[in-house]
Amino acid sequence: MSPGPASAPHGGGRADHGERHHVDFPDDFLWGSATSAHQVEGGNTNNDWWDFEHDPASLARESSGDGIDHFHRYADDFALLASLGHNTHRLSMEWSRIEPAPGEFSRAALLHYRRVLTALRDTGMTAFVTLHHFTLPRWFASRGGWLAPDAVAVFARYCRHVTAELGELMPFVCTVNEPQMVALHGYLEGCHPPGITNPMKWRRVGEVLVDAHFAAVRAVRATSDARVGLAVQLPLLVPADAGPESAGFRAVRYEIVDRHLDELTGPDTGDWLGVQYYRKQWVDPASPALFVPPPPGTPLTQMGWAVHPDGLRRMLHRAARTGLPLYVTENGIATGDDTERLDYLATHLAALARARAEGVDVRGYLHWSAFDNFEWSEGYRPRFGLIAVGDDFVRTPRPSAHAFARLARTGRLDAL
Ligand code: NOJ
Repeated sequence: MSPGPASAPHGGGRADHGERHHVDFPDDFLWGSATSAHQVEGGNTNNDWWDFEHDPASLARESSGDGIDHFHRYADDFALLASLGHNTHRLSMEWSRIEPAPGEFSRAALLHYRRVLTALRDTGMTAFVTLHHFTLPRWFASRGGWLAPDAVAVFARYCRHVTAELGELMPFVCTVNEPQMVALHGYLEGCHPPGITNPMKWRRVGEVLVDAHFAAVRAVRATSDARVGLAVQLPLLVPADAGPESAGFRAVRYEIVDRHLDELTGPDTGDWLGVQYYRKQWVDPASPALFVPPPPGTPLTQMGWAVHPDGLRRMLHRAARTGLPLYVTENGIATGDDTERLDYLATHLAALARARAEGVDVRGYLHWSAFDNFEWSEGYRPRFGLIAVGDDFVRTPRPSAHAFARLARTGRLDAL
């Protein structure tokens, strides 16, 4: 049901010491955090990322190694998140574990993920399960990855198998994480595998991944009752020269933002859309890198990213044009200073509440990330976690994790 402007920001109102208080988010709002398999599990040695991390010629800084050992610690991790007020958790299935060779599905891996999803359900948290979050099985990558002629069919076969086996433990399924970033990072910027810088392949992979989403929607629906959707990253893009939007600017924005939203029409679109928002970016279509650094003096995160909270509100309005219910499936900051994280949370959640008050149907917020983890080519240096992870793998919730718990429990921004 659409929350709509009537229920936000004044909807509900919870009893507290016998009084009714203003709340910013309704009782049924989903609150939680997100991870992905390769970034937290450890020991994912059979995928394209492992090879990229170990290739001295690649842009990757270090190996994912043991991750944060979530593969073994998932039950304690889920219990910790539930104790911090989370009612939802987003995680991904590692395709290379589930299908280690073409058409060969691992019973042990499927049983492992059955235990993982059962543990998650037993905490009372709602699962958002991503089927493809950046990593490809080595065999799939080595026969051409997304550019192989049968890539979409092979991906759909994997999706069908997973949801046929585990679908009853997956209330929400996300087909592909950030298709535009898979294309951009892997095929134009070269900072993700296969490390290519080829504009034609960049555009082609963007198209293929839209088809992969549609095929996965059909596969998931044929085998389960999961609510299925796509997660797109929607940066706020502005022209570097601060002038009006040129045709070149619009062409870049089409590949990065508009294609994946405008093509979400028709029966295989899915049931919801995940919005992942981090930052504002300045586009120079004449530069091979497409983007230019933020103007001098702009405060930057550990990733070198420019924080711009109102961009979340604007991109939620943009995503709402699809007509799909929205969930913020990622939003967060890499910082060594937890007070910055708290500020990022407060300003972005205020922007989200404002979008809801303006009528945008946003039903949940999943912070990136639950834990410090492996940030792809940047390695372990960026700290995205509500929860710090030490070299000994010990988890320590930061003050921001406790503030987030207060917000999740009360639905009130001023509880942060
Ligand atoms: C998007 C990706 O989905 C996630 O894997 C990554 O760690 C975060 N953004 C931060 O860059």
